[in-house]
Amino acid sequence: MEKILVTGGAGYIGSHICLKLQESGYLPVVLDNLSNGHRDAISGDIPFVHADIRNRTALDDTFKKFQPAAVIHMAALIEAGLSMQEPASFYEVNTTGSFNLLEAMRHHECRQIVFSSTAAIYGNTNLDMLDETLPAQPENPYGRSKAMVETMIADYCALYGFRSIALRYFNAAGADPSRRTGERHDPETHLIPLALLAAVGRRDGLKIFGNDYDTPDGTCIRDYVHVDDLAAAHVRALEHITGETKPFFDCVNIGTGKGCSVREILMLCREVTGIEFPISDAARRPGDPVKLIANPAKANSLLNWKPKYTDPRETIAHAWAYYCSNARKSE
Ligand code: UFG
Repeated sequence: MEKILVTGGAGYIGSHICLKLQESGYLPVVLDNLSNGHRDAISGDIPFVHADIRNRTALDDTFKKFQPAAVIHMAALIEAGLSMQEPASFYEVNTTGSFNLLEAMRHHECRQIVFSSTAAIYGNTNLDMLDETLPAQPENPYGRSKAMVETMIADYCALYGFRSIALRYFNAAGADPSRRTGERHDPETHLIPLALLAAVGRRDGLKIFGNDYDTPDGTCIRDYVHVDDLAAAHVRALEHITGETKPFFDCVNIGTGKGCSVREILMLCREVTGIEFPISDAARRPGDPVKLIANPAKANSLLNWKPKYTDPRETIAHAWAYYCSNARKSE
């Protein structure tokens, strides 16, 4: 069975990717420092290395021991808002951590990598849809830290013979439809899980960060892609790069092509939960782009990927079902 090293594999998206890899006949090997991930988010039969990507010795030991055929590199700090307060941590973990990983890969002759990049790379545009030909103009250090890694990987492909796809995620949402894993950040900062916490009274309602943006209802617009679809895109990307024989680098958006405003998402959360949790208006959150909607055409043409879930109500319903059956047990 081919081994795939998944850095950050115990996290929200990573744990869904591990399920998809197993279903597709791969053996995921997870490396995670558990700063945000959970050991019990992945099945006990998956080899697990408790380590940090900033630790080169741990990376070398992992490559020596498991000799993975490829890497899916997810380990990162992910909160765009937080990156406006602590930019150094984002460059340290996301940028230098990724450099460490690329060097370990080069040293151990593992040259295939699927990188988890982000829509935050595009920053503010007045476009209805974003495609991969647009220049990187991130609004925040989080997006810049990821853009730098894309640049490094492109150079490793051109000059060291790597093969890679950077998947630019739009807003991951939802949970495994069979409720095996889901979103469990602590502290939580993302819109949908925060709304669900508000619904069960574990927060005092939900604040909308900014109601005066240039959008139909004044709130920011995002493209919420189901995490199960996002995980499936990784397997497609992996198959694509392992099928290539020449050095190769490409960036691919993973989103639905449909936008939802913050207010629309909150109304859907109220509808799905059946709970009228309080919603109030607050100041804009620094570093937030107004609107991020994917043009997913390239994902379809290059990877033959299309989202299975396009109704945000269903995505939220899966998040809610997971929350009700799992997270609430530990309350
Ligand atoms: N929001 C609120 N109130 C809250 C929390 C969020 O109004 O309490 C708003 C934000 O201001 C933003 C939207 O909801 O307009 C979505 O915010 P999230 O924090 O859920 O997600 P972001 O769009 O900031 O970022 C997420 C991931 C990034 C990823 C990006 C891609 O955290 O890693 O999506 O679009 F890069």
